[in-house]
Amino acid sequence: MSRPAPKSFHVKSFGCQMNVYDGARMSELLEAEGMSAADSAEDADLVVLNTCHIREKAAEKVYSDIGRIVKRGGGSPPMIAVAGCVAQAEGAEIPRRAPAVDIVVGPQAYHRLPEMVRAAQSGRAVDTDMPLASKFDALPARRRQGPSAFLTVQEGCDKFCTYCVVPYTRGAEVSRPWGAIVDEAKALIDGGAKEITLLGQNVNAWEGEDEAGHLRGLDGLIRALDRLPGLHRIRYTTSHPNDMKDGLIAAHGDVEKLMPFLHLPVQSGSDRILKAMNRSHGSGSYLAILDRVRAARPDIAISGDFIVGFPGETEEDFAATLDLVRAVGYAQAFTFKYSPRPGTPAATMDDTVAESVMDERLQRLQALINEQQHAFNRTTLGRTTDILIERDGRKPGQRIGKSPWLQSVHIEDGAAIGELLPVEIVSAGPNSVGGVVARRQAA
Ligand code: SAH
Ligand code: SF4
Ligand code: F3S
Repeated sequence: MSRPAPKSFHVKSFGCQMNVYDGARMSELLEAEGMSAADSAEDADLVVLNTCHIREKAAEKVYSDIGRIVKRGGGSPPMIAVAGCVAQAEGAEIPRRAPAVDIVVGPQAYHRLPEMVRAAQSGRAVDTDMPLASKFDALPARRRQGPSAFLTVQEGCDKFCTYCVVPYTRGAEVSRPWGAIVDEAKALIDGGAKEITLLGQNVNAWEGEDEAGHLRGLDGLIRALDRLPGLHRIRYTTSHPNDMKDGLIAAHGDVEKLMPFLHLPVQSGSDRILKAMNRSHGSGSYLAILDRVRAARPDIAISGDFIVGFPGETEEDFAATLDLVRAVGYAQAFTFKYSPRPGTPAATMDDTVAESVMDERLQRLQALINEQQHAFNRTTLGRTTDILIERDGRKPGQRIGKSPWLQSVHIEDGAAIGELLPVEIVSAGPNSVGGVVARRQAA
């Protein structure tokens, strides 16, 4: 059986920002092949589900999505490709469970998508290789990405936290070379990006040689990007506490374009649980790092990730998490219920925490973090600060931008997408703030 070559495609990304980046690069790749982007999966000849395996709910979502696509009315069913971390983790198991899937492609092999699409016209194609040659070398140049762009600089993880699938789905830590990153940043700036967020599963583990052959860390790269004309803001995510090196902390104090925001996951405030998680840091060393970061940049906004209900977590352990959150004062944070993942050491640990207990702890933690987030938002009231306008809001004429502290700022009075302009923060809600464009200085 042979089917026609798809003319249009739709990429749907789940999970972390790196998947969003990969999704953009797959789109660029398919466009370079002459296919056109469809606005929705309904209108596409090829649907790419760029999946996430981090928690059970995320991983199961792909199967309900496939079901929905298969059931859609109209002409012939689209070609379906499963990409991302579920593809890597489950491989050929996916078409066994969902026979409508034509292509399975892992996160390190998606540069081969065009040839897989050709192969899938007469059969099924599965590729979960982690080739030595980097996919980045085989991808087309970057295209226009809007005012804020992602740039993957580091991929993979060697930390092996006992609950986590990422070291298995993304492979070992690899840093992209300096020159490739600087070139991609320039292309993004030429395409209209004013802000670049450097991405990595452990982005602060990035290292590489600069043009002069000197070994540099992430701070060196940030300092090089700081010198690129046309770029106004630099961010990076996600960091691991153990890779929070002196140079990077110092950069927060003296690199003007580096935004005052740090996402530094800690997962738990209990040293006993941190040990069982194989986090290789304690709550005390985490707090000490934040003290140093705040000494370098006093107004920095801190963000984190937390898991409640890890096997063996007692009420006392959980209380230690609440204590740590109170000690830090987060500007925002993500909270998750522990989800056992196949193949990880924690999945076979005893002493699991009941779902109802997890629910209750999640609620208490979220309430505390919401309160802190609202309090942080109130500290910015009355301040005038540069806001990067990123997209339309829900109301007519409304725009949504980002503050240096990564708050969503709602603006009612006629700012254009892509502008970076002074805005006075005039209201502060729990999840966002409101602003009005400040009178522009006469030139
Ligand atoms: N490399 C990053 C992000 C990893 S995934 C880091 O180490 O910070 C993002 C978040 O998902 C993690 O920080 C963790 O809080 C959460 N997470 C990972 N595995 C999980 C699991 N099995 N159950 C629940 N949450 C999980
Ligand atoms: Fe997962 Fe831990 Fe690696 Fe983060 S550091 S990706 S949580 S194993
Ligand atoms: Fe999910 Fe893979 Fe990212 S598991 S969080 S998409 S690295």
